Amino acid sequence: MELNTIERDDIGAAAENLVVPPAATRKVFVKTYGCQMNVYDSQRMTDALAADGYAATDAIGEADLVLLNTCHIREKAAEKVYSELGRIRELKAERAKAGREMLVGVAGCVAQAEGAEIIRRSPAVDLVIGPQTYHRLPGVLARARSGEKIVETDYAVEDKFEHLPQPKRAELIRRGVTAFLTVQEGCDKFCTFCVVPYTRGSEVSRPVAQIVAEAERLADAGVREVTLLGQNVNAWHGRGEDGEEWGLGRLLFRLAEIPGLARLRYTTSHPRDMDDELIAAHRDLPTLMPYLHLPVQSGSDRILKAMNRRHMAKDYLTLIDRIRAARNDIALSGDFIVGFPGETEADFEATMQLVEDVNYASAFSFKYSPRPGTPGAEMGDHVPEAVKDERLQRLHALLLKQQQHFGASLVGRTIDTLIEKPGRQASQKVGRSPWLQPVIVDEKAGEIGDIIQVRITKTGYNSLFAELA
Ligand code: 5AD
Ligand code: SF4
Repeated sequence: MELNTIERDDIGAAAENLVVPPAATRKVFVKTYGCQMNVYDSQRMTDALAADGYAATDAIGEADLVLLNTCHIREKAAEKVYSELGRIRELKAERAKAGREMLVGVAGCVAQAEGAEIIRRSPAVDLVIGPQTYHRLPGVLARARSGEKIVETDYAVEDKFEHLPQPKRAELIRRGVTAFLTVQEGCDKFCTFCVVPYTRGSEVSRPVAQIVAEAERLADAGVREVTLLGQNVNAWHGRGEDGEEWGLGRLLFRLAEIPGLARLRYTTSHPRDMDDELIAAHRDLPTLMPYLHLPVQSGSDRILKAMNRRHMAKDYLTLIDRIRAARNDIALSGDFIVGFPGETEADFEATMQLVEDVNYASAFSFKYSPRPGTPGAEMGDHVPEAVKDERLQRLHALLLKQQQHFGASLVGRTIDTLIEKPGRQASQKVGRSPWLQPVIVDEKAGEIGDIIQVRITKTGYNSLFAELA
């Protein structure tokens, strides 16, 4: 995923802040890989850099600083970064010939996992900065500009969110009517396939007051839909305004009180952390969208155990029943891994059976990719690549069929749609259904930010077409 930002609205910035930051003389190009948390982090880094005099650009050729915000979750993700660095090296050389410097930074999970190795492998890289130290970016850059090669990957003791500058209101408005808000970072679950506990560190929850203040700023800038982010978002907990310990359910009830915020979502959840209050939030909060991404990874108890998921397939199915009893129109999404070490045909069949039982509205499926340093990588009995390919195809076909059925089931129905942005064609606008599908409507159907009622007329590959109801 690529994130491009344009220059700030300086009038808005000046009106809002008494101290006007130094004029933007340098330019930064940010490229984002991986999950939504990286998208959010890239925005916060862009904000920190804006305060440091860097204007964002979407033209890599004119950048004084190129920042790759990387993903380490699967092998391919990390390899993409190295091949991009190869291309950037040539650009950097061209710019040097023209007498201009180009700093290259690697942030995100590859930075955290590989550290100095990145500079050894790609000498064009000037700085490597892990996700817990983004608030130090301006200081780090000052050192990099004076020629130092920097690797900053310790887990900071201070709260980075407290130190990261908030974006200007004009910038928030420019970013649109939907927004991400990280409430929790890191993971203590240690699933044996997963690199996250090593790259993002242990679970940290942001305090209630910080989250509420950020959500209010978003709402004030016209944001209608907020997605709370966390690697293990439903493990979020914090002391609430009443002095009591809150879980994610309570937090959602609180955020639902903020005027203007019409839609709330959260991702990604672990089945073990779906507590009663969170399920009650799905039952009682119309603002909480009826869509839940609840990864299970496998339908085989043997594999779930080897993955250290700490629940069985039956627990997951019972949980889904309880969630559906609370909110019967909820659509489910999940993540699956095929070809985990030791996975037999029978284990895989159990996954297929679970998918049949749940009936997903959408889901992601991946081939197991051994991550260095994780217990899974050390396990014996790795599944041959060809077998993984074949299983992935079968699972993917089933999930796609379910997704298409779900889309088709909406044809003829009238649903709420949040108008998000102009469409690819000038005659269209693109909205979002409660279940996260893009909805293509007539350009005149409503203004960006409106929630309108539309009747679904037909389905596209991954989208819905609708007319004003
Ligand atoms: N190999 C394949 N898929 C993985 N995921 C996480 N780690 C791996 C891995 N080593 C998948 C899981 C997770 C999603 C974000 O990525 O399904 O839920
Ligand atoms: Fe990784 Fe999620 Fe398991 Fe944590 S709960 S280790 S982030 S898969």
